[in-house]
Formats: sequence, structure tokens, C-alpha cells
Amino acid sequence: MTESTTEPARQDLHPTPTPVAEAPVPFPQDRGCPYHPPAAYAPLREAGPLSRVTFYDGRTVWAVTGHGLARELLADPRLSSNRQRPGFPAPTARFAQAGARRVALLGVDDPEHNAQRRMLIPSFSLKRIAALRPRIQETVDRLIDAMEEQGPPAELVGSFALPVPSMVICALLGVPYADHEFFEERSRRLLRGPAAADVERARDELDAYLGELIDRKRREPGDGLLDELIHRESADGPPDRDELIAFAVILLVAGHETTANMISLGTFTLLNHPEQLAALRAGDTTTAVVVEELLRYLSIADGLLRVAKEDLQVAGETIRAGEGIVFSTSLINRDGDTFATPETLDWDRSARHHLAFGFGIHQCLGQNLARAELEIALGTLFERLPGLRLAAPAEEIPFKPGDTIQGMLELPLTW
Ligand code: HEM
Repeated sequence: MTESTTEPARQDLHPTPTPVAEAPVPFPQDRGCPYHPPAAYAPLREAGPLSRVTFYDGRTVWAVTGHGLARELLADPRLSSNRQRPGFPAPTARFAQAGARRVALLGVDDPEHNAQRRMLIPSFSLKRIAALRPRIQETVDRLIDAMEEQGPPAELVGSFALPVPSMVICALLGVPYADHEFFEERSRRLLRGPAAADVERARDELDAYLGELIDRKRREPGDGLLDELIHRESADGPPDRDELIAFAVILLVAGHETTANMISLGTFTLLNHPEQLAALRAGDTTTAVVVEELLRYLSIADGLLRVAKEDLQVAGETIRAGEGIVFSTSLINRDGDTFATPETLDWDRSARHHLAFGFGIHQCLGQNLARAELEIALGTLFERLPGLRLAAPAEEIPFKPGDTIQGMLELPLTW
């Protein structure tokens, strides 16, 4: 199946039946096609910017699907990201289990959030990331060299999509890449372990590993963001050990899983859109434009969570204190009032105001890094392997279920 600019198909690779509009829509659901929101979310779009969905345990929460409303609410300090707050929504049993654990930044409200974020912002500035570009390029080139030596064919997730961000975040943090199998496996279980107990164990193991690494770095300072934080000289001193571990966990997990999924799913999507890919190859657009539109189109982090701290009047409804809210970025980024022909992958639109990185105080800290990695990884891959194509029918290539960050489980390619 391929799609083109002239044919904005909404064809699912694995179609699911559309439920009756009045019934509460279960959330999250598996996508029928890895780059489209589930067809079963259609009633949510029809219901307007604010509606209700049900979670795995039967609990009903508010669902935001309108772009304008999402920006308004994600910037509203009356909403909390604190997972310990009563009523905080848990879309899966796995999340409910992990919810009891401390999550730096993402799980913290201001003013504590602001204090944490200020410590990390300099390391993710445009200038610092621009300085990292040659290193990212080198990593990407080395991995493509290895693919060329061993292939074709190649399995892109294991040989490229995961190692690129994993190597980069290790270098940035000062975590030995030699341990990558250990933390990649724990991150995978943390995000989509089969049982809630797996999540607990994965987090314990990651905490222990990073705690030991931090202790070692205290004795023998090295190079990297963790070393900078440990030896930070400021009025409020360095963060304590638990806080350092919490920073390291979120940066390590958020820093490789998300970008890896964007690389694999971005490649799959481009190969399924030959006209758009041809425009990229012909130089009719830039990789920066392509990455921005892919971020909008794919919306891989679909389901941002908040709880109301007080009663709010929005979109003609009252959201009560203690009620949960989920933001469906896949629907928000296809809001027809904001993006014309939202189902079309279109390099000519301005996609920059998409909410694939969230919005407000929790907007992705790593977005400059993610953009740099994606531009270099996708740009170099398609330039160096001009004959790149799927090595199996699109319908047979497995992708991730809806209850986690979207991406490909495997991506067999040839060239
Ligand atoms: C394409 C890749 C990425 C996507 C789509 C993505 C998406 C997001 C989204 C949607 C949020 C906001 C969550 C919310 O408001 O509930 C977020 C926050 C965050 N992301 Fe990313 N992210 C990506 C890459 C990265 C990278 C490479 C890092 C690097 C370390 C990173 C670190 C973070 C952190 C630390 C936060 C929490 C920020 C805060 O609460 O202040 N992300 N990301």
C-alpha cells in the first residue's frame, strides 16, 4: 500500500471496526496503520474538542482532541502532572503500577518543576545541540557503513533506529554505551512490559544501575551531563542522589525510545509515500521540513496525562477538581481547523505548531536534540541508500501496540 499527495488515503493496514458514536470510546487503542490514529477514535473527532473516553479499568476521563483547547489547557497551571495526586489518570495497568514512583520533570509541578528544568536546560540549548551535530553525523555514518558491509537486507530498528539515539544520549549523559543492552531492555519493559510487576522490576534495576554509575562518577569525574550535575557549583548545590537518579532515568528512557520510534516509523512512512519521498530526494524540500511534518503526522506520544487541581469551565463543560484529562496528540495534530487537509503528508504546510512535543511547561526538553538526530538520521539514510525499500509487504511488518509510544517493532529493508 502506498499513499501520495494527490490521494490522502485513510486506509488502515489492519482495519478495526468503528464503534457506535454514542458509546464511550476506549482509550488507548491499537492503530490500524502505524501512521494513522485508530479509526475507532473517529467519534472523538466528531464530538468536538472535548469529549470522554474510558480506560482499561472502566474509568471515564476527559479527552482533549482540539488543537486550540489543547494549547490552552496544557498551559493552564490549574492542571497537574503529579502522578501521586488523587484522580491522576492511569490509562493502563502498567502505568497505574509505575505511577507510584517518582518521575523527574514530567511528573512534577511548578515551582519544583521549574527548579529541575533550569538545571538541565543549558545542556539542551540550540547551541549545545548544534555542537553535537558532527558527533551525531559520525554515529549515523558508522552505523550505515556497518549496514552496507553486512547487507542488504537489514533490520532497521536493531541496526540503526535504536543505536543512533541510544549512542547519542549515552555520550550526552556520560553513560557507557557498552551497557546499552541492559538499559534498552529495561526501558522497553518500563514502557511496555507485559505485566505491571515487570515495570516495577525494570525501574528498580535501572535505579540501581544508575545509582552505582553516579557513585562511581563522584569518585572519578568523567565527561557528560551527569558529571556536570554531580559536580555542579551553585547556590543550591548539586541535586541529591535520588534526584540525580530520577533525572538520569527520564533522560535515558525519553532520550532513546522516542527518537528511535520516530526513525523507524518515519522511514516506514516515507517508503509508503513515494511522491513525498521523491520530493525529498530531489531536494524540493529540506529534511528539517520533512521532520517537522512527520512529527505532526505520526504523533508517536499519543496520550498526555493531567489531573485538574480545581474546577475549570472549558468548551461549555465543567471539569471538576480531581478529574483526569488525556490529550490525544494524534487527533490534536490532525485538527482540520488548524491544519488544512490534515490526513495528507504535505511538505508545503507549516507544521511547526504541532503538539507532538507537548506544550506548556512540560514541552519536550529534548526537542532540539530529537530534531537534530532525526534530520541527520533520515536525511543520511535516504541519501546514502537511494534504492532503500521495504523487504516485506507493508501489511506484514509489525508495529507497536497503542498503549505505548508508537513505532515499528521491526523494519526489514533492502536496497
Ligand atoms: C521525537 C522524539 C521525541 C518526542 C516525540 C517527544 C515527546 C515528548 C512529549 C510529548 C513530551 C511532553 C509530555 C507531557 O507534557 O506530558 C516530552 C517531554 C519530555 N521529553 Fe521528549 N520527546 C522526544 C525526544 C526526547 C529526547 C531526545 C529527550 C532527551 C533527553 C527527551 C526528553 C524529554 C523530557 C526530559 C521531557 C519532560 C519535560 C518536562 O516535564 O519539563 N525527549 N517529550
